[in-house]
Amino acid sequence: MPYREWHYDLAALAGSINDRTKIIYLANPNNPTGTIFSKHEFDEFYRHVPERVLIILDEAYFEYAKDTPRYPDSMHYRYDNVITLRTFSKVYGLAGVRIGYGFAHETLIANLLKVKLPFEPSTLAQAAGIGALADKEFLHQALLLNALGLKFLTEGLREIGQTIVPSEANFLMAVLPDAAEAARLTTDLLKQGIIIRPLAGWGLPNCIRISTGTDEDNQRCVEAIRVLSESRAAR
Ligand SMILES: Cc1ncc(COP(=O)(O)O)c(C=O)c1O
Repeated sequence: MPYREWHYDLAALAGSINDRTKIIYLANPNNPTGTIFSKHEFDEFYRHVPERVLIILDEAYFEYAKDTPRYPDSMHYRYDNVITLRTFSKVYGLAGVRIGYGFAHETLIANLLKVKLPFEPSTLAQAAGIGALADKEFLHQALLLNALGLKFLTEGLREIGQTIVPSEANFLMAVLPDAAEAARLTTDLLKQGIIIRPLAGWGLPNCIRISTGTDEDNQRCVEAIRVLSESRAAR
């Protein structure tokens, strides 16, 4: 996926569609950058996509971005060739339960149902999902904690000189000077029991991803990175 300032370059992507293109997979917010594309950008992109091409909109982090005015809530789209996927793994904290949902044109859904396994998702997982949707207070608290965490991590890390990509998800991406520094920081933090994600596997070897945690987790993380960068600068 081509990026422009860590955002999907949807114009470049539209330009690379050819006769062999069958599926376009877009995550909004995107993992690992945490960035979003706007409704305006998507509408413009959609005009260039042939109807035979399926667009999968992965909205795993939808809840974190839904109140941002330019975020496209695809629940309102009625395109025959777009399917949206959402999950209970992120803001609802139910990753181990394996429950999510998708919405699309009924013909597309009917075709998916032909290959869906009969007892998936399990009855228990469905009950957990329904329960999670009813628990508005949990959602509210989780979003609040995340918003405060993102602000704290972004500001705290910028203060100590890190380059942070503004995020609309529950993690943020830091861009380090080079791959060696990203790998070293990951290892040094791990020794202190702080797990961050090195992004070499995403083709971004000089970047790391940090998830928001509790206030205490976030403070520990920024403090550990501050101490490590000061001790490196002193060498
Ligand atoms: C963009 C994106 N989509 C989907 C998933 C996975 O969701 P699930 O647990 O529902 O399979 C993840 C998890 O990391 C993700 O980052």
